Amino acid sequence: MTQDELKTMVGQAALQYVVPGEIVGVGTGSTVNKFIAALAGMRDRIQGAVSSSNASTELLRAAGIPVFDCNNVGELAVYIDGADEIDGAGCMIKGGGAALTREKIVAAQARRFVCIADESKRVPVLGRFPLPVEVIPMAAERIRRQFAAGVGGTRGEATLRLKDGVPLVTDNGQHILDVRGLQIADPLAFESEVNQWPGVVTVGVFAHQRAQVCLLGTAAGVETLKFDPRNGS
Ligand code: 5RP
Repeated sequence: MTQDELKTMVGQAALQYVVPGEIVGVGTGSTVNKFIAALAGMRDRIQGAVSSSNASTELLRAAGIPVFDCNNVGELAVYIDGADEIDGAGCMIKGGGAALTREKIVAAQARRFVCIADESKRVPVLGRFPLPVEVIPMAAERIRRQFAAGVGGTRGEATLRLKDGVPLVTDNGQHILDVRGLQIADPLAFESEVNQWPGVVTVGVFAHQRAQVCLLGTAAGVETLKFDPRNGS
């Protein structure tokens, strides 16, 4: 099975977590795009979606699914999104698609985070994937130095993400640093610490907003991982 087929499989499997009559939280990325395609088939049975990026909003609207502003809706039953890495407790690295800030906002508004991913995303310790951090541009160089000096017993090399040779600008008008070489042994503590550095908008560790369920696409089918909500690291 190709990676694309695995993504299609988990995108379709996620429909079982969508609550009819409600508004669903929708993430961003190539796996979520498969979910949006599947969701189009049940658009008449949901009120609509809250979206985590301009890209997903465009796809949802093209599929005939109404998109609501976070501020105009209450708690969501479920948020469905992909991940760049997921560990054994449901903690994730996210932001490969630069949508981490809005992803975290929508995830925080949902009772349950269902992660959809192919099996290559499963890791024992977060950090092999370069950690995305959305930053206010004027703070980027100092934050780069802070990662080089070390945080939570690990250090990393941060580089500014470029697009077409210039700094990528997020949906929020900010920049992304990608941090290589980290080994994030305590994701909750790491997320809390980096979050309070001046100029950090969002760190791409999702430990406070970790997944409760992961639908993992494997050659043998969809494996459902359920995480203990009391276990955060
Ligand atoms: C976007 C994300 C994505 O969920 C993550 O990058 C996984 O993407 P894909 O499904 O394309 O592998 O965090 O900001």
